[in-house]
Order: sequence, then C-alpha cells, then structure tokens
Amino acid sequence: MSEPLLQVSNLRTFFSTEEGIVRAVDGLSFTIHKGEKFGVVGESGSGKSVTALSVMRLIEPPAGEIVTGEITFKGEDLLGLKDEEMRKVRGGQIAMIFQDPMTALNPVYTIGNQLIETIMLHQSVGKSAAAEIAIQALDDVHIPNPKVRMEDYPHQLSGGMRQRVMIAMGLSCDPDLLIADEPTTALDVTTQAQILDLMLVLTEERNTAVMLITHDLGVVAGFCDNIQVMYAGRLAERGTTDFIFDDTLHPYTAGLLGSMTRLDEVREERLYSIRGAPPSLIDPPNGCRFRSRCDFAKEICTRDTPLPREISEDHWVACHFAPDLDLIRVKGEPVG
Ligand SMILES: Nc1ncnc2c1ncn2[C@@H]1O[C@H](COP(=O)(O)OP(=O)(O)O)[C@@H](O)[C@H]1O
Ligand SMILES: [Mg+2]
Repeated sequence: MSEPLLQVSNLRTFFSTEEGIVRAVDGLSFTIHKGEKFGVVGESGSGKSVTALSVMRLIEPPAGEIVTGEITFKGEDLLGLKDEEMRKVRGGQIAMIFQDPMTALNPVYTIGNQLIETIMLHQSVGKSAAAEIAIQALDDVHIPNPKVRMEDYPHQLSGGMRQRVMIAMGLSCDPDLLIADEPTTALDVTTQAQILDLMLVLTEERNTAVMLITHDLGVVAGFCDNIQVMYAGRLAERGTTDFIFDDTLHPYTAGLLGSMTRLDEVREERLYSIRGAPPSLIDPPNGCRFRSRCDFAKEICTRDTPLPREISEDHWVACHFAPDLDLIRVKGEPVG
C-alpha cells in the first residue's frame, strides 16, 4: 500500500441537542492512502457524513464539536490549523461533493462563473486562464459544448449534468483527496453507473484518493479498494472489497449484503432487509450497538463493547464472535 494520506484516530464528534448529546461519531479510526478508493458504508444515521464533515472541519459549533481525536492529512494536524489555513486545504487539497449539487451550487451564478471563482481561489491564475481550465474541466467530465454550457445556470442542467459539474469543480484544483458523500443517490441507476465510472476514470488518471460515502454496498462494489462499514457511529468492519464481499465477518455487513442491489450484475436470490432499526445515538446502549438486531447476540454483547480486532491482514471487525459465526444464516426479513 502507498503512503498514508489521511489518518483519523479515535474521532469523537458530538452534537448538543435539547434531547441530549448525540454521539454521532464515537471513537472511529481509519487511514486512507494516496490514490486509494475508500468506501464508507452504513445505514442512514450511522455517522458517515459527520465523519466527512469532521475531516473538512465543517462541524458547526457550538452545537457540534469534535470532542476527541486526531486528523492528520499529509503529515499535518488538521485540527491544529488556523481557519484560514484550513480554507486553503478545503477545496484545494481536499474537495468534497454532495448528494444534492443544488445545495453546493449557487442558483444565481452561471456554472462558468462558479468554476472560475473556485479555480482562482486555489490557483494563482488570472481570469482568462481560469476560464480555459474551467472549459477543460467540463470537457473532462464529458459535458458536451463546454464553452456554451459555461453560460448556463445550475437549474438549466439535469441532475446528472449538475453532478458532473460538481466533479469538475472538485477535481479542478487537482486535490489529493475527493470526498464524495452519496454523490449518485439522487440519480437514476443508469446515470449513477455513468457518474461512478467517470469518477473512477478521472481519479485513477490523477491518482486522487476518494472517500466514497454511500448507504449502498452495491455502489462501492465496483469502485473501491477498501470498504469501511459503519454502524451507529462506530466501525463494524473494514477490509478489502473482496474481504467484505467474500469473507464477511460482521453480522451487520452480512445483513447489508443481503439487502443490496448491485449495479454490475443481476441478482438472483431474493432481497432481505435487516430487522429492527439502529439505536438512538443519545444514550446509546452499552456493549455492542448492533446486538438488538443480531441473530448471534449473547450476554457478553449486552455488557462489553466489541473493539475492532484485526482478524487477518487489514481486515478489521468489531464483533465478539467473529470470525466464528456462520453468517450464511443471516437472513433478516424478505422484502416484497
Ligand atoms: N447538526 C446536527 N445536530 C444534531 N444531530 C446531528 C447533526 N448532524 C448529524 N446529527 C446526527 O448524527 C448522527 C449521524 O448523522 P450522519 O453522519 O448525517 O449520518 P449518515 O451516516 O446518514 O451520513 C445522526 O443521528 C444524526 O441525526
Ligand atoms: Mg449522510
């Protein structure tokens, strides 16, 4: 594996709400290497976006706070940077794209203007040079007639085209890391596959690392080198894509696999959903947070928190009984 790019250790990000403290991310550690395609998967509310926002230092105080942890990027302690220094990292060395490009694009400016502005913010070029770079960036993401499209306003483009613009914007400054938070969730299946392909080709060419966040294991299957499965603000399992799919260790991962539709193949078995729902992250239960939904839970799971253990090289799991479970029998409830 190449050298570490982003190292997150023991991250805890909490929110104060009227109901109590939400332990959105609760002791998470992981490393993304140069050029690595790293998937982060888990149901809604598992802390994926909060992890990304913590890395970008976009958690809004006073409600939200990084309570403990270290975030190191290219050897630099991101949590120690001044706001101004962090602004240079953001968009320059780490870019982020979101599920809904309309929230990131300004409706009253043309996409050309927005691209040019982003480019000028991070590169020391004049306006006409920035325009050239912008047109090239739109061409790279296969937007037809990029020169003409520069004059369009965001609402004039389809959802897929807007997401292409976001990718162009994200990659225009040649970041080392692109964080893509559910970038294709709002798109139809065909457009999803096209956008993912495009993202893969462009980031492979540039050796850009990607943190691809999704609730859908089917999305990361053809894209990522490594996958991190999160549950209720913590790590459930992490390993190479092959390990996650073929040597599954955690009952939760097995449940996600049973409920997955793949973009790249037709599914023959029936679909299952995992019974129950994730716990509240305000006063979450002791022990294993997955236990109420787990077919294998025993007394120890109510008492002791399972810490991540490395079962084989770079294959981590947080379950007391892995790797000794017969996960074939994880079935959940049939869908439909
Ligand atoms: N600004 C906020 N204030 C309070 N709670 C929040 C806030 N943002 C996220 N949370 C909570 O943190 C948990 C993790 O959220 P999130 O990271 O958005 O999940 P997801 O995995 O779906 O991206 C959820 O319980 C969510 O309700
Ligand atoms: Mg999210």
